Amino acid sequence: MIRRKITLSEAAARAAEMLPKGILLTSRDGDKVNSMVIGWGTVGVNWGRPVFAAYVRTGRFTRELLDKNPEFTVNISLDEPDKQTVSVCGGKSGRDMDKLSICGLHTVPGETVSVPAIREFPVTLECRIIYRQVQEPGMLPEAVADRYYPQDKESSFAGSNRDPHVTYFGEIVNAYILEPEAGEK
Ligand SMILES: Cc1cc2nc3c(=O)[nH]c(=O)nc-3n(C[C@H](O)[C@H](O)[C@H](O)COP(=O)(O)O)c2cc1C
Repeated sequence: MIRRKITLSEAAARAAEMLPKGILLTSRDGDKVNSMVIGWGTVGVNWGRPVFAAYVRTGRFTRELLDKNPEFTVNISLDEPDKQTVSVCGGKSGRDMDKLSICGLHTVPGETVSVPAIREFPVTLECRIIYRQVQEPGMLPEAVADRYYPQDKESSFAGSNRDPHVTYFGEIVNAYILEPEAGEK
């Protein structure tokens, strides 16, 4: 595979287009590599650096991995994301299973981070966390807090639940699209 470099604005456009359909955030601790679907994310500039801000509820397995290894990749498909992948990576916890093998996803080593890219979701942002902040739902308009933080939903529930989000500001240290080399599928 070759890594065709892309600009921040191309990364932002591709993320904005595909976030509503589901993109992946991949994290790693040792041998454990895990992808979760994210529907929220912000590409921009913080502290003079290109940043992808991801919003991960405190109870997600991904949160544990990010707190152990402060690197992640963002993985975006070129067209409609695979339904089974969105359902498994967006509905099951990686604590209990190897979601990548269940979904038939193939890893490609990261170029500058320890976390791999995903061949089937080839648009890749390699990110290193420079800041994290637990959100306070009490600072949100009440209607938003009620809608997105239902207190009767346990932390283990894969959809909206009582947990606040942690905002992870990942400096984008590399951005590219994985493309097959000549003769490679
Ligand atoms: C379309 C879609 C978008 C989602 N967006 C987010 C998100 O931005 N933040 C979040 O914490 N969970 C989000 N989720 C839920 C997680 O993907 C889900 O809870 C997943 O099972 C977490 O995996 P993990 O426990 O292996 O980290 C989304 C799910 C779907 C289906």
